[in-house]
Amino acid sequence: MHTITHQHELREVLHDACTSGTSIGLVPTMGNLHAGHMELVKTAKASTDCVVSTIFVNPLQFGANEDLNAYPRTLEADKNKLIALDCDFLFAPSVEDLLGAYPQQQSRIHVPGLSEGFCGSSRPGHFDGVATVVNKLINIVQPDKAFFGLKDYQQFLVIRKMVSDLALDVKIIGVETLRAESGLALSSRNNYLGAEQQQTAALIYRCLIDTAASIKAGDRDYNNLETSARDRLAGAGIKPDYFSICNAINLQAAAESESQFVILAAAYIGPSRLIDNIRFELGD
Ligand code: PAF
Repeated sequence: MHTITHQHELREVLHDACTSGTSIGLVPTMGNLHAGHMELVKTAKASTDCVVSTIFVNPLQFGANEDLNAYPRTLEADKNKLIALDCDFLFAPSVEDLLGAYPQQQSRIHVPGLSEGFCGSSRPGHFDGVATVVNKLINIVQPDKAFFGLKDYQQFLVIRKMVSDLALDVKIIGVETLRAESGLALSSRNNYLGAEQQQTAALIYRCLIDTAASIKAGDRDYNNLETSARDRLAGAGIKPDYFSICNAINLQAAAESESQFVILAAAYIGPSRLIDNIRFELGD
């Protein structure tokens, strides 16, 4: 695996390495790689010829009171994991290389609608930061496909809309969430939790499964289902941010006749804000 830290060098190397007909897969990450990221790389390896993983802790997507400085940086361990998967290139630029000397002066991409509720309300500017950096990585790497985890479902929809709105020539592929045995979705933020807190946090997924089961059984009182789930989380010492039953394409509140559902959840446990979701169609 070649590790590259300058965008101009990556462009040159990819230009030389990828003859016409070579397909490129992009796996953007912020590092601290876990099995969920590995799944993205494996999926990319299986469907493209040359995989470029990126590690960049993106300051534009962190709010002033968020964990940018505390975010785990584990570059050497991450490199070894990528080498073990035979990843072709790692792009790990500095903030200055990717965003220039004045990151806050960067032009920003705003994706209206999809980026505004849920994590967009709790974390103002977050999705502008994500869309800006992902757009930049796509422009540098020029991939055929880019791979994103479906745990961050709102992010996945925001990126897919950005790519469509800006006519970018890349296919956005969503990769299913990996979970611990308890059901807890794998996330770098689980590292902030002790073993007991991780067990407690698994209740988020339990609530998603149970709410989906109630809807599949015919319950259409979404407000009541959302409130019950939030109360159940709060009763276990988890502070819910949102727990919302939505249409899976536009993230509007689910209609009574809804057929494509996503239930989105975000909650605070100890020092971590965790997100998760479950998607299903009625008639499945
Ligand atoms: O999901 C992430 O790790 C980040 O939001 C991403 C897509 C790498 C953009 O910085």
